[in-house]
Amino acid sequence: MPPAERAAPNLLARDIHGFYGDSHILHGVDLIVGRGESVGLLGRNGMGKSTLIKSCLGLQAKMSGEIKVGGTRVDGWRPERIARLGVAYVPEGRGIFSSLSVLENLKVAARRGPDGRQDWSLDRVLDLFPRLVERLGNGGAQLSGGEQQMLSIGRALMTNPDLLVIDEVTEGLAPLVMREIWATVDRVKEAGMACLLVDRNYRSVLESTDRCYFMEKGRVVWEGASPEALADRDMLARYLGV
Ligand SMILES: Nc1ncnc2c1ncn2[C@@H]1O[C@H](COP(=O)(O)OP(=O)(O)OP(=O)(O)O)[C@@H](O)[C@H]1O
Ligand SMILES: [Mg+2]
Repeated sequence: MPPAERAAPNLLARDIHGFYGDSHILHGVDLIVGRGESVGLLGRNGMGKSTLIKSCLGLQAKMSGEIKVGGTRVDGWRPERIARLGVAYVPEGRGIFSSLSVLENLKVAARRGPDGRQDWSLDRVLDLFPRLVERLGNGGAQLSGGEQQMLSIGRALMTNPDLLVIDEVTEGLAPLVMREIWATVDRVKEAGMACLLVDRNYRSVLESTDRCYFMEKGRVVWEGASPEALADRDMLARYLGV
């Protein structure tokens, strides 16, 4: 990899506009995730977080703006081609195959990272999620909600990404399972992988990230250090209603 690409951010989005039919949803959003950086994306329901993520990953049919992954311009590319540059996506809802077993789900996802790295082997992923070891032969549909989310993250890690994008992974989970998943996200982050996290559990997001963005009605309205955001009660009340 040339030095310029090594230094380029994992993700750079500039002046992103997104649409569903005639509805103009994103109004010129800028977002950066630096190498190995963990970044949170927060905002109330319907403010455009998922649409922004989909726009960055080639999943938003109608959008404009500039997207770079590791320095390579990718807007207009198909999702699979963007993913191969080292971006893994854990979508809202559960991105697993319910007809395959846990083991098969993990194995079909496996591939080397963009530079040939194979840091995340099956053993390492299972070490991160001991619960899945007991479920290896079970079908995806037989798992609890929390286990399905763990499998979804496990599948993302099996692709050996540089950047892990997680949208609402703790939705509907019991607090104990939620804590288990956040602990895992922290371990992934400590291993040096960049993360972009969306979750309605704002406290966990802010405790797990270096930097964050707050969105309102399709615009970024605040950007800064996560500890600073966590301490700013007025701002949290204004943009999250908490
Ligand atoms: N498939 C769609 N068709 C039409 N409008 C949509 C579609 N998906 C989302 N929207 C609208 O776009 C806006 C932004 O939605 P988006 O899903 O990006 O919000 P979000 O911040 O991710 O919300 P949440 O926290 O509920 O997940 C909302 O007004 C939503 O109603
Ligand atoms: Mg969403």
